[in-house]
Amino acid sequence: MVLMMLKDRVAFITGSGRGIGQAIAQLFAKEGAAVFLTARTEKELASVAAEIESGGGRAGYITADLSRDADCTQVVAAARAKFGHIDILVNNAGHYGPVVPVEDYPLADFDKVIAVHLRAAFLLSKLVLPEMYARQYGVILNISSLSAKAAYAWGSAYAAAKAGMLGLTRVTAAEGARKGVRVNAICPGPVTETKMSKELDALLAKKMGVNEEEQLAGFLNGLLQGRAQTAEEIARAALFLCSEQSSAMTGQSINVDGGVAFY
Ligand SMILES: NC(=O)c1ccc[n+]([C@@H]2O[C@H](COP(=O)([O-])OP(=O)(O)OC[C@H]3O[C@@H](n4cnc5c(N)ncnc54)[C@H](OP(=O)(O)O)[C@@H]3O)[C@@H](O)[C@H]2O)c1
Repeated sequence: MVLMMLKDRVAFITGSGRGIGQAIAQLFAKEGAAVFLTARTEKELASVAAEIESGGGRAGYITADLSRDADCTQVVAAARAKFGHIDILVNNAGHYGPVVPVEDYPLADFDKVIAVHLRAAFLLSKLVLPEMYARQYGVILNISSLSAKAAYAWGSAYAAAKAGMLGLTRVTAAEGARKGVRVNAICPGPVTETKMSKELDALLAKKMGVNEEEQLAGFLNGLLQGRAQTAEEIARAALFLCSEQSSAMTGQSINVDGGVAFY
């Protein structure tokens, strides 16, 4: 008999209409979790939910712009209405923002990038923690980035938000450790198949005056493995961190980057 790693758990995964969030939702559903999805694009959410349900899994979704506080409150209420409670929160939603130096970075964009990555992760954690503490069980996983640990020009808000998520991870882990709640983060390297990554590559290539393939090849060559990571590889690390396989791990940030960051 194959034992499912998330049997009967309820997982709420943000940014799950495509990319890494979609891969996490599909893998978690395969491992027995009921998954609640959210993002702004309804068509993508509906298609992921339908695929999960057609494979015998359980899924629900609601559209939301997580840079807005009211939407964060609404999605947590909707997830509870659908599945009763939340065992696992994966803060994954986000966009890269402008690719410009600090002195040119529009303040409104800075706020928006911080809001969707860091503020939403904070607010969603704040909303699910009381229930997790009451049930003495919960897992929060924050999808940070290699950008939190390395130095790449022209993405200041993104790097600041992702580094902020690591601080949030450690403090939430400290607060929840003796109340049954574990909190960890993943720092993916380049997952080049996703919309965000493709758009970023195109912008970087344009700025550097090289073609996209050259830009990407140069970057990937700096990784020990010399290749991109897949959304599926990030999802497998997420599954480990959200399952009892990692029961003694909390407050950690795990690099899934093919060998770039070493702390
Ligand atoms: N790809 C990489 O190389 C890489 C590397 C390190 C970390 N990451 C992180 O991984 C996460 C997923 O990125 P991805 O590469 O999978 O990109 P993606 O394919 O573009 O997916 C991003 C997801 O977030 C949702 N989202 C964006 N802004 C939102 C908002 N304001 N409110 C609600 N949902 C929102 C998107 O849906 P809508 O647009 O429909 O809202 C989409 O479902 C991000 O946090 C990203 O920073 C990615």
